[in-house]
Amino acid sequence: MSASTEYGVFLPIGNGGWMVSTTAPHPEASYAYNKQVALDAEEAGLDFIMTMAKWKGFGGTTDHWGETLESMTMMSALAEVTSRVKIWATMHANIHHPAVAAKMYTTLQQISNGRAGMNIVNGSYPDEFTQMGLWEELSKDDRYRMTEEWLIAVTRLWSEHSVSMESDFFTLDACESRPHPATRPTIINAGTSKQGMDFQARYADGAFLGADTFEEMVDKSAYVHRVAREHGRECKTYSMMTVVLADTDEAAQAKVAEYGEGVDREALLNMSLAWGVPLDRARAWADDATGEEAFQVQYVAGSAETVATEILRLVDLADLDGLMLIFPDYLTDLPAFGRTVLPLLRAADTATGPTTHEDLTHA
Ligand SMILES: Cc1cc2nc3c(=O)[nH]c(=O)nc-3n(C[C@H](O)[C@H](O)[C@H](O)COP(=O)(O)O)c2cc1C
Repeated sequence: MSASTEYGVFLPIGNGGWMVSTTAPHPEASYAYNKQVALDAEEAGLDFIMTMAKWKGFGGTTDHWGETLESMTMMSALAEVTSRVKIWATMHANIHHPAVAAKMYTTLQQISNGRAGMNIVNGSYPDEFTQMGLWEELSKDDRYRMTEEWLIAVTRLWSEHSVSMESDFFTLDACESRPHPATRPTIINAGTSKQGMDFQARYADGAFLGADTFEEMVDKSAYVHRVAREHGRECKTYSMMTVVLADTDEAAQAKVAEYGEGVDREALLNMSLAWGVPLDRARAWADDATGEEAFQVQYVAGSAETVATEILRLVDLADLDGLMLIFPDYLTDLPAFGRTVLPLLRAADTATGPTTHEDLTHA
């Protein structure tokens, strides 16, 4: 874990945020909603805000992510209304030419006064691109080879006057992209496969890890840190977590139960199919879904002390450099988190040694 852990917010750029349920809060995919969340994140003292890039939703009763806004445009506007939080926008290497992406991020770097980050994704969900006629089937190795060539092109365009390059995937012919960014935007990647982690260790400043179990998260974080060091560089590791916060643990658990009741099985089925799961398995998973599956990502539920203890345990044991937070109802949950949980996390960061539940309740 680095000296001070970074905490950020995954903004709800898609309707419903990360809850797939008719009985959970349903954030709007509007600029007004996301702007308020960004302002609240800055006010709370969080470190970064990020939006995903999503082109097709999952239907169901909730029309989950049927409405999404575009990441770069959103983050560019949010850069202007904030002054401190880092601004991480997501870009698909498979559909945006590197010369277009290079100039977009140079522009974002100016607008944000050096706070820009580029979360590179590379098209792992075919439906989003077949609908546009932009799908090119690639093996995972080739998908990451394309992403590597894409990033080399972007970073050269950020620093060289004129770039010529002929690769398997891209051609640049004395290509110019001026002005160059005053400082290189932060490079982020959220690939969760071995190929993804190797890419992160080699090229990224920050890696979002995806893991099914706590042990897997520990291993993945250690792997990315170690392989990056072997390449003579540093790559920070991040995870994400939904926070269900209430005055007491019981009240938070009651919210979890309420949110889980209306789990949207049809949206889950479509989501699972989009991930490439065969129909029979996807249907069985959706049919058997309990309330837990209404949360797309790992969650923690409890009082401020419980939430802080769980977050610190994860960050400490998995040696994470940061955590991206998701809230069921951003407009009420995020400010409450900023008032009650974040001070405990920051206090633990400056303290030495492991933090226990007892330390926190006496903080
Ligand atoms: C925090 C996080 C954010 C992600 N954001 C996006 C996104 O905005 N768009 C997208 O298509 N995929 C996104 N992904 C999916 C990853 O890019 C990646 O495809 C997925 O984790 C599978 O990993 P793999 O490609 O290495 O197999 C995200 C994943 C994570 C963990």
